[in-house]
Amino acid sequence: MQGGRIARRGLSRLAAAVETAAVAPPRMPDFNHVPLPYDGPSAAEIARKRAEFLSPSLFHFYSKPLNIVEGKMQYLFDERGRRYLDAFAGIATVCCGHCHPDVVGAIAAQAGRLQHSTVLYLNHAIADFAEALASKMPGDLKVVFFTNSGTEANELAIMMARLYTGSHDIISLRNSYHGNAAGTMGATAQKNWKFSVVQSGVHHAVNPDPYRGAFGSDAEKYARDVQEIIEFGTTGQVAGFISEAIQGVGGIVELSPGYLPLAYEAVRSAGGLCIADEVQAGFARVGSHFWGFETHGVVPDIVTMAKGIGNGIPLGAVVTTPEIAQVLTRRCYFNTFGGNPLCTAGGLAVLRVLEKEGLQANAHAVGSYLKDRLRALQDKHEIIGDVRGTGFMLGVELVTDRQLKTPAKDEICRAMEHMKEMGVLVGKGGFYGNVFRITPPLCFTKEDADFFVAVMDSALSKL
Ligand SMILES: Cc1ncc(COP(=O)(O)O)c(C=O)c1O
Repeated sequence: MQGGRIARRGLSRLAAAVETAAVAPPRMPDFNHVPLPYDGPSAAEIARKRAEFLSPSLFHFYSKPLNIVEGKMQYLFDERGRRYLDAFAGIATVCCGHCHPDVVGAIAAQAGRLQHSTVLYLNHAIADFAEALASKMPGDLKVVFFTNSGTEANELAIMMARLYTGSHDIISLRNSYHGNAAGTMGATAQKNWKFSVVQSGVHHAVNPDPYRGAFGSDAEKYARDVQEIIEFGTTGQVAGFISEAIQGVGGIVELSPGYLPLAYEAVRSAGGLCIADEVQAGFARVGSHFWGFETHGVVPDIVTMAKGIGNGIPLGAVVTTPEIAQVLTRRCYFNTFGGNPLCTAGGLAVLRVLEKEGLQANAHAVGSYLKDRLRALQDKHEIIGDVRGTGFMLGVELVTDRQLKTPAKDEICRAMEHMKEMGVLVGKGGFYGNVFRITPPLCFTKEDADFFVAVMDSALSKL
């Protein structure tokens, strides 16, 4: 009798253990870093100040916004010292890893010596970084202008294209994001990011989006639309064409293979320049190449960059040919902070870390592995409509109906909350806001990828 009770108790303990194991949350890889004690204001206090003193246009992820107080490589820490795996990297920005010691060291050393001078005087930091950046560029792309952001870089690139060609019309792609100042808001083609202000001289071509696009993956049909814009919407001459290699804000949309060479040809035949916006895809993020445009086999006339260029420092750049660069000598072009010694010392350190640590190869290897694992997850979860991207620029699109491709807008928000509870921070975007954007620091490991997939699997199972 008693023996039976003991046996039953043993069995129920076993069942409980099995159940616990089944629901145990995925375990984050170990990481040897103890965050500093935090004695600053609480999340609630910061939220109160933000509501009172900052723009009401600011928004945040999660129903209870996170107070992130420290970062180390691919991890972030909140005010209570809780660790999170960062799969968004401050919107595809932190490439070497949060607070990488080489980058921090270079900035600190420069800050201790000279913080600011402007280009009115000589300083080696800006020249050294420009030389290093030019060495990463193909062809005749050898002249660098520094800016403070991606918006500024694209504004400058568009202006240079107009000055060089003497034409005004710019062609950009629907669903693109290029910035939020006067010219770049015109080039941006998603209503959520456009205000009702004058945005002239930009035509938006049909997006060569293999998943949702009107012509599937048919690059020729999409390129014909560019040709028709030129013929029916302009004088037949254009200033240029601007596009991302993979649309970031637009939801990690890869352009149909073969599209960019055809579009470039059409634009160049109409006298235009081709601008590659590498703000998100640049700096080894796509893994197979250093620049996103290289994955399409094209060489642009102007390349713009920001985000990854500085691992989080406010820095942007425009790189072009000596001939095109000449247009800015017609008047004075000046940017107070552009090429600031702190930023350019940091930028040079970023380039060195990317090379020293083989981060492009890591983005390629781990990114491909992660994409394969996400594809396998798609077989399990009906809600995953598409898995796409390359390297560490990956997208997972959620739909409530695979045939109709109905955007799963609420579901993605709930899944993100679950993922946060399990310790993973991921981005989201896309025109409908239903695409996970997975753009981690390039030091993200295979173990991180496994943990990420386990967490996403668990979160989607809870919906
Ligand atoms: C492709 C692309 N271009 C330009 C920009 C604008 O950059 P910034 O926010 O630094 O002005 C962004 C920002 O997300 C971007 O993703």
